Amino acid sequence: MEDIKLHDKTFEVYIPETEIAEIVQHLAKQINIASISRPLFIAVLNGSFLFAADVMRKITIPNSEISFIKLASYQGTKSTGSVNELIGLSQDLENRNIIILEDIIDTGNTLEKIIELFQNKKIASFKTATLLYKPKAYKKDIPIDFIGKSIPNDFVVGYGLDYDEIGRNLPHIYKLKN
Ligand code: XMP
Ligand code: MG
Repeated sequence: MEDIKLHDKTFEVYIPETEIAEIVQHLAKQINIASISRPLFIAVLNGSFLFAADVMRKITIPNSEISFIKLASYQGTKSTGSVNELIGLSQDLENRNIIILEDIIDTGNTLEKIIELFQNKKIASFKTATLLYKPKAYKKDIPIDFIGKSIPNDFVVGYGLDYDEIGRNLPHIYKLKN
């Protein structure tokens, strides 16, 4: 498969779409067997839009719901450290079993901010599912319940992930070519 160019950088295929489908299927299976009752999945936009769409089609838990929040923490290829809530949640979270759907967890700053948003909301339980996880970059103690694939500290794009807003439509996941 061919390299691609986004803005000023070249990327090579890292996780082809066939492997992404297997990772998503496996992750959904883990969630399905965790016996979480009437879960409210909350996908973190924009990055998780494709992952959320694909994983939800594999969820077999009765009465599953999905909603969306939008945050921002990345400018270019480096995390800025601060995260701002852009679009909040409208529904009542009291007594709900929340499952966060993230495209990628890097430093954990975004996840920490999300957890803050759920404090004082009297939720029943909180779990996190992420397609990709960078263990070497992770700085928090918050447990991550469902992990699709752990990856090195490479910058990745495609399948929802962007480089300065482009590349989200790519069916494969690519990494920065050195
Ligand atoms: P933190 O550091 O808060 O980062 O855990 C999580 C958010 O940062 C974005 N992110 C990436 N986006 N390629 C991307 O396109 C990457 O390699 C990458 N690493 C982190 C992403 O939006 C995620 O929600
Ligand atoms: Mg981004």
